Amino acid sequence: MQFGPLKLKSNLFLSPLAGYTNLPFRLTIREIGGLDLATTDLVNARSLLERNPKAFKLIETCPEDRPLAVQLFGGVPEEMRDAAVWLEERGDSSVDINMGCPVPKVCKVGGGSAMMTELPETAKLVRGMVDAVKFPITAKMRLGWDDSNLTAPDLARTLEDVGVAAIFVHGRTRAQGFEGTVNLEGIRAVVDAVKTIPVIGNGDVTTPEAARFMIERTGCAGVGIGRGAFYNPWIFRTTQVFLETGELEPEPSFEERIRVMRLHFDRMIEVFGENRGCLMFRKIAPWYAKRFGPAKPFNKRVVQISSRDDFNSVLVDYLDWRAQFLDENGELKPNYRPDPMVASFMNDDLPKHVRRGAIPVPKGPVEVW
Ligand SMILES: Cc1cc2nc3c(=O)[nH]c(=O)nc-3n(C[C@H](O)[C@H](O)[C@H](O)COP(=O)(O)O)c2cc1C
Repeated sequence: MQFGPLKLKSNLFLSPLAGYTNLPFRLTIREIGGLDLATTDLVNARSLLERNPKAFKLIETCPEDRPLAVQLFGGVPEEMRDAAVWLEERGDSSVDINMGCPVPKVCKVGGGSAMMTELPETAKLVRGMVDAVKFPITAKMRLGWDDSNLTAPDLARTLEDVGVAAIFVHGRTRAQGFEGTVNLEGIRAVVDAVKTIPVIGNGDVTTPEAARFMIERTGCAGVGIGRGAFYNPWIFRTTQVFLETGELEPEPSFEERIRVMRLHFDRMIEVFGENRGCLMFRKIAPWYAKRFGPAKPFNKRVVQISSRDDFNSVLVDYLDWRAQFLDENGELKPNYRPDPMVASFMNDDLPKHVRRGAIPVPKGPVEVW
């Protein structure tokens, strides 16, 4: 897998998730394995040039957090160019341009999905960035605005012509939000539209089988995983093993899930401080808990933590309470085990009882990402 001059050890990518894909989350996943190029949340190019402390926090990194892509948004060509140059000098590995975000704050400045509708302007802006740096510039988009405006293939072809090194595409339209099935034909159309650059498919990949299915059905060169990594930061490693050997590693044990959640929590405190780290972790812990089996009291209390001590005491009480659902080997009794994960686009191939609905989306403007 190669993005222009950048050689990568994995064709699996962490999709940007504003509010979540920060340094602690990336380090946690990297330590487990299977991931090479990770990304930051989206960040405003102008804020970086203005040295805005909040924007700097969004791109905080360290030597273990390599290779790293910074995702930029913005509609002013000079700002996008200068931010890319600055990030290259800082030592980042690539810049990804956000062309999928429909949130007004982003579109208002000509960034995000506004870029999908203005091909010539977008091409000019991107060319200015590509010409100013040596590292790869990539772009992330949705399939288009709605089903009657599937613009991604045209956009991808245009971007390849101006020198973009790879395309990430979420297989839904802006109108779909996160509803409905990921459109594998739509991703295939983007793959067919470009000449040589890799296209990375994205959307609802929650299992190793789903990653292989997306690659086989669309011809994409790799997959991006977002919410699937919330549930399961092990997904990159297990998917890499599965793609290489066909072997499906068992899901991580409960003890391993707790170990990794604790590490993630400790890093949140290290990077954001105890109070802010705890506030942010209130949104993260319930995603881990989705694979714990019964977890009501944990979820109820973990969204109130304000300190390391609070977190520890929630965890101790939860471990106690959960013991009632275990058999003599310390495993969850069968009827308390969580259902297997299944991607929306694989439902048709499965018996009814294991089909699943949409992956939850955190509340807020991200509902339309
Ligand atoms: C909470 C949240 C935040 C997101 N933030 C971004 C972002 O900053 N930039 C971006 O290009 N896409 C963003 N997305 C879209 C994801 O990168 C991804 O395309 C989408 O979630 C589908 O993949 P998944 O099903 O693997 O999550 C976000 C999605 C969610 C749910």
